[in-house]
Amino acid sequence: MTFWPTRDHWSVAIPLHTDHVRLPVLADTGFVQLAPMPVEVPATEWESLEYMDWKSGGDTNFAPLASADGELDCRGFWDKGKTDKDALWTSNAAKAPTLRDYVAGVGANFGRVRIIKLEPQDREAAMRSIHRDDNNRFNPEGEGWVVRSWVELTDNPDSYMLLMDNGPDGLPDPATERRVPLPRGARFVVDTQRLWHVVVHNGTAPRYALITSFESGPALERWIDSQLPVAV
Ligand SMILES: [Fe+2]
Repeated sequence: MTFWPTRDHWSVAIPLHTDHVRLPVLADTGFVQLAPMPVEVPATEWESLEYMDWKSGGDTNFAPLASADGELDCRGFWDKGKTDKDALWTSNAAKAPTLRDYVAGVGANFGRVRIIKLEPQDREAAMRSIHRDDNNRFNPEGEGWVVRSWVELTDNPDSYMLLMDNGPDGLPDPATERRVPLPRGARFVVDTQRLWHVVVHNGTAPRYALITSFESGPALERWIDSQLPVAV
């Protein structure tokens, strides 16, 4: 029997409706696909980093490139009384200059920047980890809603990010399921506090991706506009 979250799931208590500044481009579906990564990222930028044992969304390890205080620390910014913005680069960032410059080049306020290493998990296993993120704890209302962006570093075209919006009961609504494929260079921005999400990774080797928290606002909006896939 496939796991399905209930009203007791910790994600249900995370706020959905607030007065933070939202991005119009995410209003409809909660996510936006961008054009493929425009720059080549050397494998050393994720293979030579220091990873921490940190479980989120499956059997995962994380290498922080930017954290609340610049330390190699995967804990939430809220443990340090900070919202997920105004991050500082860690010692890993010097080993990943392409990724560091890519994030800085967005021009928006960013919070945690991390490489995720995810071991393979089929859909049945992944469903156990479906959740919503608590991205905006301590974020003052009126400021920009924190969302997350992905860059896929390894090539996993048969894997996908599973996204579901909320039903009236506050639980994932299967009718809203979307699957974002994860080939190398795939990029997308997701309101992960709104959408239930988890990655189904059908590969045999770990999947690596860059995940960055960004504050919604004019800078992020302009950047997304400039990165949309070219219509054909
Ligand atoms: Fe998440």
